[in-house]
Amino acid sequence: MALAPQTPAVLPRHVAIIMDGNGRWARKRYLPREAGHVAGVGAVRDVVRAASDLGLANLTLFAFSSENWKRPKTEVGALMGLFRAYFRSDMDELYQRNVRVRVIGSRARVSNDIERMIEDAERRTVENKGLNLTFAFDYGGQEEIANAARELARAAKEGRLDPETINPELFATRLFTSALPEPDLVIRTSGEHRLSNFLLWQSAYAELSFVETLWPDFGRKELLEAIENFAQRERRFGAVSDAVA
Ligand code: IPE
Ligand code: IPE
Ligand code: MG
Repeated sequence: MALAPQTPAVLPRHVAIIMDGNGRWARKRYLPREAGHVAGVGAVRDVVRAASDLGLANLTLFAFSSENWKRPKTEVGALMGLFRAYFRSDMDELYQRNVRVRVIGSRARVSNDIERMIEDAERRTVENKGLNLTFAFDYGGQEEIANAARELARAAKEGRLDPETINPELFATRLFTSALPEPDLVIRTSGEHRLSNFLLWQSAYAELSFVETLWPDFGRKELLEAIENFAQRERRFGAVSDAVA
């Protein structure tokens, strides 16, 4: 596959995307919301291929939030079906691209076959050394943080952990993302300016990029634009800028 003509000079280590706007994309075309989700899978495919071609190390995609269960049953069913269909149709290509697939979130509410499918994909790609592709599916940041706190509290209660040793680094080892660096760049499509419970802990110092494009219209070009824009930013992490120091 050909590299994109312009390869950005600075690549973020980890890009995370809140894929939003499928419903509005469909409504603009007088189509049912589900048609927007179908088109959204096409954008997932384009963006994953682009990230893999670019040599990006980590890409995390918010596919289904722990709050999305509140949607009508038919829409939830359609989203589950599309997740399943995407894994079935694209796993060979992902494997061949040396992509390592992970899924973060609760497994308690998803159907058994999806749980098995996730485990199979994670196992099959475990040795792959290319793009780390993570889907946040039935994922909620507050739930993730509460689970980590519960686990640490249990360990302390059972005498396996000294509470005084709890610090941010230790805490982060109990999160779903313990194997990944924190996101440098969080993109949200569709013009909404909120995180909607996505990677709350991990995004402490992420650069945020809110773009108007609806998710089904987002692709290689839009990903490159967001990365180019990221490369222009000065990240200070609480310190003063080099120019002033
Ligand atoms: C994002 O698109 C997909 C999911 C949340 C699963 P939406 O379905 O939220 O689209 P809008 O926000 O209604 O346009
Ligand atoms: C966030 O989008 C969840 C995903 C992109 C999977 P939503 O569309 O569910 O978020 P809200 O409800 O507008 O905050
Ligand atoms: Mg939305």
